[in-house]
Parts: sequence; C-alpha cells; structure tokens
Amino acid sequence: MNVLLIGSGGRESALAWKIAQSPKLTKLYAAPGNPGIADIATNLNIKVSDFDGIAKAVKDNDIRLVVVGPEVPLIDGLADYLRSIENPPLVCGPTKDGAQLEGSKDFAKQFMVRHNIPTARYQTFNGDTYNQAVDFLKTLQPPYVLKADGPAAGKGVIIENDFQVACNELKEMFSGKFGKSSAEVVIEEFLSGIELSVFVLTDGHGGYVTLPEAKDYKRIGENDEGLNTGGMGSVSPVPFADEEFRQKIDTHIIKPTIDGLIAEKIDYRGFIFFGLINVKGDPYVIEYNVRMGDPETESVMLRIEGDLLDLMEAAANGDLKGKSIKFNPKTAATVMLVSGGYPGDYEKGKEISGCETVKTSQVFHAGTKMKDGKLVTDGGRVIAVTALGDDISLALAAALQDANKITFDGAYHRRDIGKDLIKFGRKSK
Ligand code: AMP
Ligand code: GLY
Repeated sequence: MNVLLIGSGGRESALAWKIAQSPKLTKLYAAPGNPGIADIATNLNIKVSDFDGIAKAVKDNDIRLVVVGPEVPLIDGLADYLRSIENPPLVCGPTKDGAQLEGSKDFAKQFMVRHNIPTARYQTFNGDTYNQAVDFLKTLQPPYVLKADGPAAGKGVIIENDFQVACNELKEMFSGKFGKSSAEVVIEEFLSGIELSVFVLTDGHGGYVTLPEAKDYKRIGENDEGLNTGGMGSVSPVPFADEEFRQKIDTHIIKPTIDGLIAEKIDYRGFIFFGLINVKGDPYVIEYNVRMGDPETESVMLRIEGDLLDLMEAAANGDLKGKSIKFNPKTAATVMLVSGGYPGDYEKGKEISGCETVKTSQVFHAGTKMKDGKLVTDGGRVIAVTALGDDISLALAAALQDANKITFDGAYHRRDIGKDLIKFGRKSK
C-alpha cells in the first residue's frame, strides 16, 4: 500500500523509519517531511495545515493510509476532512471530537471524571468567575497548577508556588496571555511523583494494543535543571513500570478511556498518549495527547518488533482485535542534539556534519534542511540519536558515543538521559 505521513519532526522521522520496514509498504510519502525522511520517502511540499493539498496528494498518489503525526491538524479536523472526500483513505489519527482530549484540557478533565479515571482534583474558570477561581486556589496547597484550556504549543501550563503570583498569572491568562486558549483555565491540585508516557493504538471499536512505555526529559539542563524544551531525550522501558504498575494503568486508565470513548460515540482511530504520574505506586493522568510523543517515539520505535504499519492500518480500519505487538526487551535511549541558545534565541543554518559516520545508532532528523546541497540546522531541536543497549547505562553510552560524532556550531546535548531511573534496576519481565 502507499502511505502518506503528515509532519516533519523527529517523531515523524522515527515513524517513517519504522513504516519503511514494513513488507506491506509499496511507497511512502511525507508532507512535508524533512531531509532525513527524504532518504526513505518522497517528500511532498505541502503544509500540514493545507487540507486541500493533502487531499490532492492522496488522490494523485493512490494513498491507502494517511498517518498523522502532529496534533494541530487533528484538532483542526484533518481526519474528518479526509474521511469525507471521494474515495477516502484510511486515516490513523482521531477525528475532531476525539482530538478534544488534547485540544481542550477542560474536556479531558470532564471526560476523566465521567469515566472515573484517576486524575488531579480540578475546577475550570473564566474571566467572569475570577473570584471563584481565587476561592478554589485557596483550597489547594502550593504549588498551584494553572492550565490554559486550549492548545498553547506546550507552554500553557503554569506551576507557581506563590499564591499572589498565581492569582496575577491567572488574571493574565484570562486577559489573553495565551490568546483565546486561556479564556478558560483549568486549576488543579499538584501531584508529586515521577512521570512516564504510555501509548496505545486503538481502532474505535474497543480493540487496542499498548506500545512500549517511555520517559522523556523536558528540561534543557542536566539533572532536570533550567528551562522547559520540546524534549531533550527519552528512554524506554521505564524500570519502575513493573508488571503490577502496568496492570494498574491498563485497568484504571487505558480500559476506562477506550470504553469511555465508545460510550460517548467517539470513533477514535489512532494513537492515544497518556501522560501519567506515579503517585506512591498508583498511576494518575496528567494529560492526554492524541498523537505519539516526541522524543519518546524515537525510543519506542526501536523497541517495537514486527510490522507497525499493519497495526496502524488495522486501527484505521476499525479492525485491531486479535492483533498483538511484540517488544524488544532491550533498552532504548534517545539523545537530542539542539542548537546553541535553545530554548531561548538561537541561530539556524549551521552546517551539520558527521551523520554518515554513525553506524550503530539511528539518526532521526528533527529540525534540519538542505541548503545549497548541504545539511544545515533549521530548528531548536536538530537531530535525535537513538541506541539500544542491555540496560540504561549501555544504551545511553552508545547513543552519546554516536551523538558526539555529529557536529555543528553551537551543538548541545544532555549527557544524563535516563540516569535518574538506574536506581530502579532493570524491569522484571
Ligand atoms: P501538561 O501540558 O498538562 O502535560 O503539563 C505540562 C507539565 O506540567 C507536565 O508534564 C507536568 O510535568 C506538569 N504538570 C501538569 N499538571 C500537573 C499536576 N497536576 N501536578 C504536577 N505536575 C503537573
Ligand atoms: N514528549 C511530550 C510530548 O510529546 O508532548
């Protein structure tokens, strides 16, 4: 079959790498893709927001399956649109109603409450209910968690220790700090624990497979210090997610979510990303995303054995029941090479060298482009390097060794990805 992958980041590079291994694949296209993806796919110069352009590409290239990487086109209704065209393709990615799980924090919280899914206590407010919001804040212990209801490119969550500062932040959010995304604000209880990311692929009919779990590292500095970024690395598996903990996730979080979607007549076909936190041995949902995580996907793809394209096609076709997924028991570690200055101001257009010298790890492009025949940086997060090893230390050492072979002016990466998890030992299978 011909497949069209939507997106251009590290996540899509890893998905493309995995899809390209499938015996079911005839030809892979990406819109818009990136120079790394171009090695295994045909890139089409179409923006992810250009729904007509994507529909035309589906028709022109006889596409059977569209795999949507990022959330924004899903929240904006790309899956609905593609399912409405003549000779519609299969789409791996939810329609607008399902994408609200990520598009509206208030919708996600109400959904969790309706279906008894463990999550932090919360209430939602707007500018007209500011005084009630302050009263609710008074019932909570610091730090205070304020979340813009709508999408805010990962920046809409404020965690603040000082009560007065939190009230001021709230006022600013209602006044448009995140545009109309913060017209409504979810205020919730702070949960303390270690976070992890769990992914399922589901078919809208109750069938689902759970992918390898992962942990991502969001801060720019080692030991999780400094500003938040789009993600500096990841590891999979997460050693504290033992059999008992994973069973709790399945029983209390995944199944009620899948059942809840069906009960609410939401035909959800695609990936669900559960952002979880381990509170004293019990998993709670911090957030849902309606896509795979980045840079978790880079680690997760190396651990999936067998044909992910077959599973994505089945999910999009409502037909996953009876299918299973196998994991490589090794550990995957991903190290992200970023531009100097990121996540603050940084320069683009720096020449990248050394990618071809990497033989052991996988090199996934995130923010790169070709300029005058040369590969140059084109974003804050530039390249992800992912390696497998027998444990976290070995996987990390292998990824670091290869990351050091790739150079560009100002390049930076963390050297401690996964190190906080070593104390949990290796997961018993
Ligand atoms: P979100 O966009 O909802 O994932 O929030 C961004 C980050 O804020 C999460 O990855 C957590 O680290 C943190 N966070 C969000 N909600 C809470 C909460 N209720 N308790 C503790 N940390 C939280
Ligand atoms: N790594 C977190 C995310 O993709 O949202």
